[in-house]
Amino acid sequence: MSVDARELRRCLGHFATGVTVITCAGDGMPHGATVNAFSAVSLDPPLVLVSLDRKSKACKYLDGAPFTVNVLTEPQDEVALHFAGKPMNGEPEWQRPDSRLAPQLAGSLATISCTPWRSYDGGDHVLYLGEVQRFEVAGGDPLVFFLGGFRHLGPVYEPVPWFESADCPSTSWFVASS
Ligand SMILES: Cc1cc2nc3c(=O)[nH]c(=O)nc-3n(C[C@H](O)[C@H](O)[C@H](O)COP(=O)(O)O)c2cc1C
Repeated sequence: MSVDARELRRCLGHFATGVTVITCAGDGMPHGATVNAFSAVSLDPPLVLVSLDRKSKACKYLDGAPFTVNVLTEPQDEVALHFAGKPMNGEPEWQRPDSRLAPQLAGSLATISCTPWRSYDGGDHVLYLGEVQRFEVAGGDPLVFFLGGFRHLGPVYEPVPWFESADCPSTSWFVASS
């Protein structure tokens, strides 16, 4: 059975996501790639997953290397484009609070710094699992990606019909909003 790649891409674009930049060190320089294929995986051990195109430079640099997931805020839309091949004016501000871990981007909503755990074949992509070593959260609205464009986060949807149920985001393992 064959599927039309363009149509599949459009279908997948209906899954609204946040936007991250995966940062690492490559050839002695900080490097980043904009990625929305990011997922939480496990709390024990603490694991996260990113999926990178085999053709990307990031894919080469991430092989056995630490990486940081920078969750972008709305004002970082230019940063998202910068690390997707559309350079912004100037260079984004880099930080490296721990020299054993990957560099990170100033002004992110959250940063999750990982050491390499495993990588897996993902067809034309490679799936990288990282073990979380350090994380921090700052305030702000997330940059949202839907159908190929950036969006504003909408208002809270209420009432939450599953309050107190096992799947309730505020009582299960999902992170409750502050
Ligand atoms: C919103 C957005 C989401 C993206 N998500 C991914 C992704 O999940 N995986 C991926 O490999 N590329 C993704 N890309 C494309 C990469 O950012 C782009 O190919 C980038 O140039 C790779 O950089 P590099 O080759 O310097 O590593 C995305 C681009 C945008 C704008």
